[in-house]
Amino acid sequence: MNQKISIIYFSPTGNTRKTLQVMGESISDMIETIDLTCSDYETRNFTETDFVIFGSPVYGGRIPLVARERFFNMKGKDTPCFVVVSYGNRDYDDALLELSDMVKSLGFVVKGAAAVVGRHTYGDIQITRPDENDFMQDKAFAVKAFQKANDRSDFQIPGNIPYKDGGAGGKFRPLTSSVCVKCGLCVRECPVHAIKEDCMTITETCISCFRCIRNCPVHAKNMDTEEYESFAKMFTQKLKDRKENQYFM
Ligand SMILES: Cc1cc2nc3c(=O)[nH]c(=O)nc-3n(C[C@H](O)[C@H](O)[C@H](O)COP(=O)(O)O)c2cc1C
Repeated sequence: MNQKISIIYFSPTGNTRKTLQVMGESISDMIETIDLTCSDYETRNFTETDFVIFGSPVYGGRIPLVARERFFNMKGKDTPCFVVVSYGNRDYDDALLELSDMVKSLGFVVKGAAAVVGRHTYGDIQITRPDENDFMQDKAFAVKAFQKANDRSDFQIPGNIPYKDGGAGGKFRPLTSSVCVKCGLCVRECPVHAIKEDCMTITETCISCFRCIRNCPVHAKNMDTEEYESFAKMFTQKLKDRKENQYFM
């Protein structure tokens, strides 16, 4: 297929990115990537001949506030798109509806939607997901929804208005242990610039996305506190049953 696809995402720990890549590559070999994770992007204007896939994680049942702000620079003109949210096996609540409503207000036409499960940021929940089975489902969805993109689309996306409160981020603040080599990777790669030059977390700015913990090459960034450990244990137990992805077209 030679239609160029633009994949646009906010994805601190990579689940959303992986899903969008699989979806994009299953319908085109010309993928443009607009990664909004670490910074804003200049305004982009799309036309009705473009095709876009938007993706975001779910934070507290909503689209993260910072992602909302970054998506607003993307402008469509009757541009067909898919919307995708990745959630950590709890619930996606109003996030998919919110993302769909948001991109519609920016000039996009939603031709397909998906709520997919990825490893939760906290605890050990669905740690191997998205897995091969998820990717197979993502591909099947993308191919079918893309083929149907010219048909009338009047599917319903679950969610409530007003949307629930959420999206601000979590309460955990990663620590920095003495093995830190001050390589600065976490400083450069923090989505909200919440890490100082000395690699310490800025408490007020951090959104608890744990990107720094996942990426730290020497495992200096950590959440090794009793309070977190006991929360993580309880949360892991509570969300142990696998949820399946949901697709709408
Ligand atoms: C602050 C915060 C809030 C979250 N809230 C939810 C939630 O409400 N429901 C859920 O199932 N997962 C929730 N998660 C988990 C993420 O949605 C999930 O891990 C997602 O796949 C991360 O996407 P990413 O890897 O693209 O960053 C939350 C994670 C964080 C950091």
